[in-house]
Amino acid sequence: MRAWTSTLAIGLIAPTSVLSHTIATRKTSESLCAANSRQIVSNSSDIWPWQTYKSSNLTPPHLTINKTSEDLASGFLFIGQEDDSSTGVEEVSPFILTDDNELIWGGPVGDSSNFRQQYWGEKSVISFWVGTGKAAYGADAGRGWGEVQIYDDEYNLLKSVCLQLNLTLPTGTTTDCDADVHESFITEDNTILLTAYNTSQADLTSLGGEKDGWVYDSIAVELDLETNEPVFIWSPLAHLNVNLTHEPFTGSNLTDPFDWFHINSIQKWGDHYLINSRHLWRTFLVNRQGEIVWYIDGADGGDFGTLPTNGTFSWQHMARLRNVSSNPNEVLLSYFNNDLDSGTATNPSIGLTLRLTLPPNPKNPPKLETDFYDHKYPISSAAEGSFTPLDNGNTLMGYGDEPYIKEYGPSGDLRWSAQFAGYNLGQSYRVYKQEWHATPYYKPSLVVDSVTAKDDLSECAGSSSLRGYVSWNGATDVEKYEVFAGSSASKLKSLGEIEKKGFETQFTLPGGTKVVQVAAIQSGRAVRKSEIVHV
Ligand SMILES: *[C@@H]1O[C@H](CO)[C@@H](O)[C@H](O)[C@H]1NC(C)=O
Ligand SMILES: *[C@@H]1O[C@H](CO)[C@@H](O)[C@H](O)[C@H]1NC(C)=O
Ligand SMILES: *[C@@H]1O[C@H](CO)[C@@H](O)[C@H](O)[C@H]1NC(C)=O
Ligand SMILES: *[C@@H]1O[C@H](CO)[C@@H](O)[C@H](O)[C@H]1NC(C)=O
Ligand SMILES: *[C@@H]1O[C@H](CO)[C@@H](O)[C@H](O)[C@H]1NC(C)=O
Ligand SMILES: *[C@@H]1O[C@H](CO)[C@@H](O)[C@H](O)[C@H]1NC(C)=O
Ligand SMILES: *[C@@H]1O[C@H](CO)[C@@H](O)[C@H](O)[C@H]1NC(C)=O
Ligand SMILES: *[C@@H]1O[C@H](CO)[C@@H](O)[C@H](O)[C@H]1NC(C)=O
Repeated sequence: MRAWTSTLAIGLIAPTSVLSHTIATRKTSESLCAANSRQIVSNSSDIWPWQTYKSSNLTPPHLTINKTSEDLASGFLFIGQEDDSSTGVEEVSPFILTDDNELIWGGPVGDSSNFRQQYWGEKSVISFWVGTGKAAYGADAGRGWGEVQIYDDEYNLLKSVCLQLNLTLPTGTTTDCDADVHESFITEDNTILLTAYNTSQADLTSLGGEKDGWVYDSIAVELDLETNEPVFIWSPLAHLNVNLTHEPFTGSNLTDPFDWFHINSIQKWGDHYLINSRHLWRTFLVNRQGEIVWYIDGADGGDFGTLPTNGTFSWQHMARLRNVSSNPNEVLLSYFNNDLDSGTATNPSIGLTLRLTLPPNPKNPPKLETDFYDHKYPISSAAEGSFTPLDNGNTLMGYGDEPYIKEYGPSGDLRWSAQFAGYNLGQSYRVYKQEWHATPYYKPSLVVDSVTAKDDLSECAGSSSLRGYVSWNGATDVEKYEVFAGSSASKLKSLGEIEKKGFETQFTLPGGTKVVQVAAIQSGRAVRKSEIVHV
């Protein structure tokens, strides 16, 4: 066996520039060789380079990556893009990619939000929000009305969660389903946590507005996945004054209600709910009766007392509590702290973790646990974003409306960073790095074509210019493909096995081949065959 590295140039795809390096490995049979056939297309100064294939029309972004030799967490990256930034990327779809820039799965074209793996009971599923409304730009900036789609590990749509609360919508917005972009977490109680934006009226005189002004009430919902009935609804407007907001008030009406609270995360904590408000710079612990048990304030600490140096926060996303020890009185609270400084947005966004003592006691105020950011290339993200712990002690930051993803080591040392669109030209509300195993219900995709110029496989292929291209969108556990070829469909004979190479594997075929089929091999077993392709 020998391996070599070189640059592929397949005349038929004719990309303007080919940046990818591929490895072709000689396999068992002299006449059967395989290579990663991914092409990187860099075609325009506005659109970020993307990847193309022959057996699939998916065009995911080409991640440009900087990394150290330090350990990275295992898992795939879950990137759910939004259409607002379509000027900057070739395709707006949810994508699963490796941290080495290989596509795993491309989903339906269109906006998606909070794309992730999670568990629904025993089942490992993926889920994402789809609908109308924008995550960061436009009139509906930062809100959405839609549904949460849940897919199983064969990519069957298990359920579309359609929240129907008969909400009042701003003029010009219609919806069948009311779920908002921000949260869609399935709990252990067979429920899902959802955010939703309801247009309501409130006394805005303390802000200089009208007595019956229009506002968004951004509500927290826990929905039973069996019955589709809400089991918990919490309305900030019923519990808090609108003048607690830090969002500048510049008027409002039914077309453009004032988004004074802006909910963006909910977490179930025992039988309580941790609810995060971007525009109040506060996070609330709410009980089942809807009473606020405590709150932390990003400026003055609220119930917890003075926040530590570098531990203040503002316009923050993704509030998450976690236990750190068997001591129930000690917890970690983490944020993607956007830390937007009133419009100029020059403060770096920070992966913030505070160590809290419960119940809150100002005499024992929060301690700073992490304030991670890239000191060399700091990113200031005005909206969205995620900060999640990873299995090996690393953490992952998705920079929301800036198209960057960074993985940090346990002490905040930057280990990996990637960019998937030009600055300000792409976004993913959150980015997760998670384990995911899937075997699609559909067949692997096979294309056979002739190369017109010498390629990496020419030496092995001899005089044959025939090549097969196979991919299986979303399959995570394929090890090899067995190649069958012959002069007719009834005369298919195994030519041997090729190793899977990246998303799409290119392989040689003997001259004179008339029909081709491949079988995907997992754990040494053929799990699914492609269609039979006539050359
Ligand atoms: C490159 O961009 C031009 C227009 O900007 C388009 O017509 C052409 O198809 C693109 N080429 C590729 C390979 O995508
Ligand atoms: C929504 O409205 C429909 C039709 O008016 C009604 O049947 C349904 O009970 C309402 N649902 C809620 C949650 O109010
Ligand atoms: C939505 O707002 C309307 C007022 O515009 C109100 O009547 C209704 O109860 C609200 N719905 C929820 C679920 O809070
Ligand atoms: C905020 O609004 C409440 C209720 O209208 C009012 O009592 C309070 O004085 C207001 N606070 C400020 C700072 O305006
Ligand atoms: C609603 O308010 C926005 C700005 O707050 C303004 O641009 C728009 O013209 C207003 N529409 C109406 C119908 O008053
Ligand atoms: C606060 O952050 C700055 C900038 O990263 C750093 O230089 C300083 O050491 C930090 N201070 C504390 C107490 O963590
Ligand atoms: C955290 O730990 C406490 C005490 O052991 C437990 O009651 C609680 O359920 C835990 N919370 C979570 C979310 O694991
Ligand atoms: C990677 O490093 C280069 C400089 O070597 C820098 O220009 C680029 O922004 C970095 N990319 C990321 C994603 O941090």
